[in-house]
Amino acid sequence: MATEIGMKPSGGSPGAVSLPLPFCRSCQEQVRVQEREHLARELHDALGSLLMSAKLDVACIEPELARISPAASGHLHHLMDILNQAMALKRRIIDGLEPPLLLTQGLAKAVARLAQDFSSASGIGVTTSLADVALPASAQLAVYRLAEEALTNIGKYAGASRCSITLLEAGDGVQVDVKDDGVGFNADTDQNFGHGLIGMRHRIEACGGTLIVESGPGSGTHLRAHLPAGSDAAH
Ligand SMILES: Nc1ncnc2c1ncn2[C@@H]1O[C@H](COP(=O)(O)OP(=O)(O)OP(=O)(O)O)[C@@H](O)[C@H]1O
Ligand SMILES: [Mg+2]
Repeated sequence: MATEIGMKPSGGSPGAVSLPLPFCRSCQEQVRVQEREHLARELHDALGSLLMSAKLDVACIEPELARISPAASGHLHHLMDILNQAMALKRRIIDGLEPPLLLTQGLAKAVARLAQDFSSASGIGVTTSLADVALPASAQLAVYRLAEEALTNIGKYAGASRCSITLLEAGDGVQVDVKDDGVGFNADTDQNFGHGLIGMRHRIEACGGTLIVESGPGSGTHLRAHLPAGSDAAH
């Protein structure tokens, strides 16, 4: 059984410049990626230096305060804990905006690492075949998030003994497959889709791609995405 999660029909007002929908969406997604990069840099540089400066002040005051007021010194320790928590929260937000593995290692290695971590944590074997494909940054993030959510769903629902992730060049694009041999579910209607699968669809479509979900009770699940190839330099 297959459910195709494809492009919605385009609307358009009279006189409006009509660009191919995949192109428009792809540009919007590029802008979103740039905004996320900007936000991550601001958080890292501006918020990071404010928090560090506050920690240095606390460290400076601490010995003197401990001498004159042990009670106030306890509050200062508490303040230092809060600042450390704020630093850790800043790091988690930045990592959520820009997965660090994806930035440093590229898509194939980042997905391989997701697969390894998932397999160690769940005990489910994962076979990978991951080519170094050329995709714009927004599409790389969409594929990374797809793999992440697909593995999460396999861990939560599939009861699978094995799964596989494939990333390859296909025609003038890139194909991504995530398969498992688990219990499957009724994918005839996207009524059964939650935020995870709907989010995948939005991300892949926003990059000009399509997503097909094949599943049925007892038949395992197969997610197949196709994305137009390219690089950021081409946009
Ligand atoms: N690999 C899978 N094997 C079996 N069932 C699955 C699999 N993937 C998804 N499902 C079914 O599809 C449903 C929708 O999945 P989806 O990821 O969209 O939402 P969710 O996981 O229920 O919630 P969320 O992702 O928001 O935490 C799941 O509740 C589950 O019943
Ligand atoms: Mg889910």
